[in-house]
Amino acid sequence: MVLDGKGLAKKVLENVKAQIESTGLTPGLAVVIVGDNPASRVYVNNKKKDCAECGIKSEEFALPENAGEGKLLALIDELNNRKDIHGILVQLPLPVGYAQEKVIQAISPAKDVDAFHMLNVGRIFTGNYSFLPCTPAGVIELLDAYDIDPKGKHCVVVGHSNIVGKPMAMMLLHRHATVTICHIHTVDLASFTRQADILVCAVGKVNLITADMVKQGAVVIDVGINRKEGGGICGDVDYEAVSEKASYITPVPGGVGPMTRALLMRNTLEAAKNLN
Ligand code: GUN
Repeated sequence: MVLDGKGLAKKVLENVKAQIESTGLTPGLAVVIVGDNPASRVYVNNKKKDCAECGIKSEEFALPENAGEGKLLALIDELNNRKDIHGILVQLPLPVGYAQEKVIQAISPAKDVDAFHMLNVGRIFTGNYSFLPCTPAGVIELLDAYDIDPKGKHCVVVGHSNIVGKPMAMMLLHRHATVTICHIHTVDLASFTRQADILVCAVGKVNLITADMVKQGAVVIDVGINRKEGGGICGDVDYEAVSEKASYITPVPGGVGPMTRALLMRNTLEAAKNLN
């Protein structure tokens, strides 16, 4: 069965829109982009479009690649202090020469709608959080919508990034799953993925997960976004073959991606509620 992220994301956005209308709040999201990475440009445009759709005021700040870290930090400081801005998103990756970690830590934790700031990361660990990172939160939301309970299941997360793999593992642990994290140095990846009741792959490598690596009846969540030659995107999972074995699977596009976008809108609404 296909896990319809696109359909669920639409419902999340509708819910955000309804809450904005009923509360009379106007959440404000600052979207900061540095340089001209084409993928970042697409992501930023999509985020602005989502904002417009659900009644969030978005403001874009585009800095040239050579603006320098000082200018970027000054901008973040200004946005931290603006009353009409509730969420600040600095699109990653930053160009070479910018200390990404320093920039992330400069964002006020109360406006850190990506949940990348150390304070918010720490809160995910303890379970006492106000924001969850959009992609893993979107995955959990998708599992919940289809009544897939991670409790007691063996969840295997492939990829150990700060943005997806690590918080994903922690959130599955909060749901009382038994969690294994695999990564680029894992020896015999297939021996782990074959044990997975729920397999989450967030690597960025086409066909990394083939049908022989998946247990019959497993839930397969594909977080990968890879650009295909000649246009379009695909995930990390060999979708056609794996969908024959999986009980549930997310497509790419139309799976996790739209959920990530929707959860950003919800985090921005939550930030506005908390700051008001
Ligand atoms: N680059 C890739 N994914 C993300 C994300 O979720 N947030 C930000 N800020 N940058 C990204």
